[in-house]
Amino acid sequence: MSWAPAAAVRSLWRLRTGALRPLSVYGRRISARFYSLGMTLDSINRAAVDRIIRVDHAGEYGANRINAGQMAVLGRTSVGPVIQKMWDQEKDHLKKFNELMVAFRVRPRILMPFRNVVGFALGAGTALLGKEGAMACTVAVEESIAHHYNNQIRTLMEKEPEKHEELLQVIRKFRDEELEHHDLGLEHDAQLAPAYTVLKSLIQARCSVAIYLSERF
Ligand SMILES: [Fe+2]
Ligand SMILES: [Fe+2]
Repeated sequence: MSWAPAAAVRSLWRLRTGALRPLSVYGRRISARFYSLGMTLDSINRAAVDRIIRVDHAGEYGANRINAGQMAVLGRTSVGPVIQKMWDQEKDHLKKFNELMVAFRVRPRILMPFRNVVGFALGAGTALLGKEGAMACTVAVEESIAHHYNNQIRTLMEKEPEKHEELLQVIRKFRDEELEHHDLGLEHDAQLAPAYTVLKSLIQARCSVAIYLSERF
């Protein structure tokens, strides 16, 4: 964890536990300064929102590359239209986070070229196991992403939900669509993939690493 987000978490913890004096003591509410850290509550929230947008942009970019890899192998098979439908939604997700990156002036992660290659390789590699392998990849990734989005929704709800209403709506909508992709994967025989449980666990471990790296680099 980088210094600023870590400091933000510590500051929120202190506020909740009363380790610092109540904000009303300073005669201000939201804009009160934490003199020891030189930060404001606004800057703490801003850092958290920036981190959410940056990580989600990287994740949606990775999802697009996975779909590209799947389509390169299975695009002309019976499952091609199913993957294309999911990819079209992933393109919309990425477009929205591209817009949010500009609106919030958030810089993209330095690992994007790496994510380009790794995402495509994951999509194509699992698709080479057959449509069941591709769908197993979809189920594993979407389950991880939906869990990740749920964590972000909780984080934003704990801060100032009314202030983050637009971002919350975006994340909730995308979370629901990722769950639809998850269900599509199951409907198209994901569980019949070779070593489904092991494959799913490996892919989800990779997702956890990708999220960890995206939060830091
Ligand atoms: Fe997505
Ligand atoms: Fe998805």
